[in-house]
Formats: sequence, C-alpha cells, structure tokens
Amino acid sequence: MQNSQSIKKQFEKSMEKYDENAIVQNDLAQKLVSETAKIRNDFNTILELGAGTGLLTKQIKSQMTFKKFFANDLTEKSKNYIQKIIPDANFILGNAARIKPPVKADLIISNAMFQWFSNLPDVINYYKKFLNNDGILAFSTFGKENFCELKEISGLTLKYLSKDEIIKILETDFEILYTNVYTQTLDFESPLELLAHMKNTGVNSLSSKIWTVKDVKNFCSKYLEKYEKTTLTYNPIITIAKLKSQL
Ligand SMILES: C[S@@+](CC[C@H](N)C(=O)[O-])C[C@H]1O[C@@H](n2cnc3c(N)ncnc32)[C@H](O)[C@@H]1O
Repeated sequence: MQNSQSIKKQFEKSMEKYDENAIVQNDLAQKLVSETAKIRNDFNTILELGAGTGLLTKQIKSQMTFKKFFANDLTEKSKNYIQKIIPDANFILGNAARIKPPVKADLIISNAMFQWFSNLPDVINYYKKFLNNDGILAFSTFGKENFCELKEISGLTLKYLSKDEIIKILETDFEILYTNVYTQTLDFESPLELLAHMKNTGVNSLSSKIWTVKDVKNFCSKYLEKYEKTTLTYNPIITIAKLKSQL
C-alpha cells in the first residue's frame, strides 16, 4: 500500500493531463452526482473529499444547489482548480482520513478516491461525526476486478473491496439508498499507451516502486504474450447512503 506522500506526488504530476485522460472517472462523477441529485439536490453544506482537478466539483455545481462548499485534497494544487469552478469554495488541505472539517455537512461526497484508503471502516466511522442528522454520504470507488490486466501481469493491485463488503461496513449506521457496480473497458493501441494512460490519471504503478526501462519492457512483452488486444478494465462502484437518525 502506498503512503499519502507518494499518492500526492503521483497525482500532482498527472494533474495537467488528468481531465483529458480520466474518461471513466468523469463518467463516474456524472453518474454519482445525478443519482445523488435524484434523492436530494439542495444542501446547506457540502464537503467533497479528494477533489483533485474538480471533475466531480463541476458536476456538483451544475446539478446541485448549496450554501457552503468545502473541498479537500492531499495536494494544495487542487485548491486553484476548485476555486476556478466554485470561487468561494473553502479548501481543506490534507489526508481526508484525518482532516477536521470546521462544520458538519449535509452531503459528504467523493469520486474515485476511496480506493486509496487503507482502512475504509475507520474512515466511514470518522465521517459519521461530520454529517448532520439524515446527512448523505455518496462516493464512488473501484471493486476487485479493477485493473485486472495489471494484476495478472505484474501482481500489483490495491486492496479493493466488493460492493457487498462496502455495504456491510455501512449498514449499521447508514441506510443504503443506492448502489451500482459495473465494468468499463478502455482500448489502447499498445501496452505502452496503457501505461501512459495510468500515469496521466495519477495511478502509475499502484505501488511506490519506480519502474525502470527494463520493467516497462518486461510489462509490455508479458502483456502482448498474454492478450491479443490492449485493454484496461475499470470496475466502478457507486454507493449513496443516509446516516441513520441518532437518537
Ligand atoms: C483519481 S483522483 C479523483 C479526483 C476527483 N475526485 C475526480 O473526480 O476526478 C484522486 C484524488 O484524490 C486525492 N487523494 C488521494 N488520497 C487522498 C487522501 N487520503 N486524502 C485526500 N485526498 C486524497 C488525490 O490527490 C487526487 O487528487
């Protein structure tokens, strides 16, 4: 598992090229917000975790209304992106597992970020105290099939959870309002292009290991031996849940 410093560095390097490469993440942001907006679209306070370049923020701005908006990310560079979209957004720098938001929110939302948490139950438990009664937690992450090609070739993967495992973590304190899991496959001209895609979306190698030219060559030849076409499978999971009333 990577530490937050190396995750931060990877994302900082990818930010300029992220939006044009993050096809799956952008689709997912759209779905996450439109499904949440069907349940509720007017909030007093929204807190977005791992806001990055603001793909999700743009969707929130166009599909929801709110009075206060807080955005968080590991990297300070995110602040400029977010304030270009929502000029009066408050930015909270730091690891979302540890930040202390100054107010409670009615919606805590995050796109394509929760897979980086090494202990999701702890994080969910932590955010219960930053949600108002009946507050909504809406997030997307990735399931066990995510990047299965990469796992097959290099053995590298994150500790992905299944939809059922996520539901189990939430169901004591949250009412599950919506879940959806699907796969989306992207096609590439070559394994090298696939690796460039991963780099440009900040994922690199799923580990802090630095890839040498030899590693890249090995990966490409192993990929071509195993598969006829170059594809990368994403396995998004969307979860929307409401905090059960605390008596
Ligand atoms: C794949 S990007 C997603 C960005 C954005 N949510 C979107 O929809 O495009 C993941 C973002 O989460 C941030 N991130 C990863 N781990 C984090 C953590 N523990 N706390 C805060 N931000 C984190 C990264 O810096 C990066 O900007």
